[in-house]
Amino acid sequence: MRVLVTGGAGYIGSVVAAQLLEGGNEVTVFDDLSTGHEDAVPYGARFIRGSIEHPPLDGMDAVLHFAAKSLVGESVRQPGRYWAHNFVGTAKLLEAMRVRGVRKIVFSSTAATYGEAERLPIQEDHPTRPINPYGASKLAVDHLLGAHAELHGLGAVSLRYFNVAGAYTARDGRVYGERHAPETHLIPNILKVAAGESESVRVFGADFPTPDGTCVRDYIHVADLARAHLLALENCSPATHKIYNLGNGAGSSVMKVLNVAREVTGHPIPALVGNRRPGDPAVLVASSEKIQRELAWKAERGDLETMVSDAWAAFRSPETPQVAPSA
Ligand code: UFG
Repeated sequence: MRVLVTGGAGYIGSVVAAQLLEGGNEVTVFDDLSTGHEDAVPYGARFIRGSIEHPPLDGMDAVLHFAAKSLVGESVRQPGRYWAHNFVGTAKLLEAMRVRGVRKIVFSSTAATYGEAERLPIQEDHPTRPINPYGASKLAVDHLLGAHAELHGLGAVSLRYFNVAGAYTARDGRVYGERHAPETHLIPNILKVAAGESESVRVFGADFPTPDGTCVRDYIHVADLARAHLLALENCSPATHKIYNLGNGAGSSVMKVLNVAREVTGHPIPALVGNRRPGDPAVLVASSEKIQRELAWKAERGDLETMVSDAWAAFRSPETPQVAPSA
């Protein structure tokens, strides 16, 4: 297939682009480089820099749409920016796809569409009451995809990621890891301390209604997550919008992640407890039974130790493209 990967210079998009190439697809990475990095584009992919409002759709069979603003805390401070990029930008992309006759899309949705968990693990029919603009903007896209499927025959799959972690080593030996700049995510922030790049990590709240008081998340390995995109693409049917959760069904608290990282790195990793970060729900744990049942997806690197070890190896590997701070 000829596939356009929007946001393919980012952490998850670049891993999926690499796996698509390994699967024999023709890949065009389309990214505005606002947070992505050109040196993360896999060898063998064509790269076009540009805005989601003008997507290069000529000759494309499908779009994998990763390009987005994706920081929960930032979305609380800048809601307009999140709605503009994530919702309005995607609405324009979908309209351009309709006009050009590109009929398949796999969309990066999120656990943040659910809000506070009312039942655990969270299934796809759980109420969607996002508590931050990031989740709200992604949920609105999920609704729009449903409308495009019904009205225009689009084949769409929304994958609702829980917390993505780890790194991917491609067949050519290249390592794709997580290195945002500035970094806000928990595991890379912890690893920066282990690597001597910062002195301590801040724990955002220890007064949540969870066993140790810190937030519980469901971590999924980026290689497993990426594989689900290839399955979703193969199973994209016309006039159908499907939604699947992607996690491991196991909750890990911030403290647990810290302790695993201490074991993996052999570093004491000092941590300071601070205030809660606005927009963070207490617990997000997925049921991924639906995608296991319908698309035969299975996690192969589902334990937290593996994810943290892979992330740590990538963090220190000379094969991982290094990133300069973005504007
Ligand atoms: N955390 C800290 N200290 C840090 C960074 C994070 O304590 O330095 C905490 C957060 O408060 C949260 C947990 O660690 O409880 C995980 O935070 P991340 O920033 O790593 O990830 P998020 O849960 O905020 O968000 C991620 C993705 C979103 C996605 C969401 C779904 O970035 O795109 O998972 O759960 F929507």
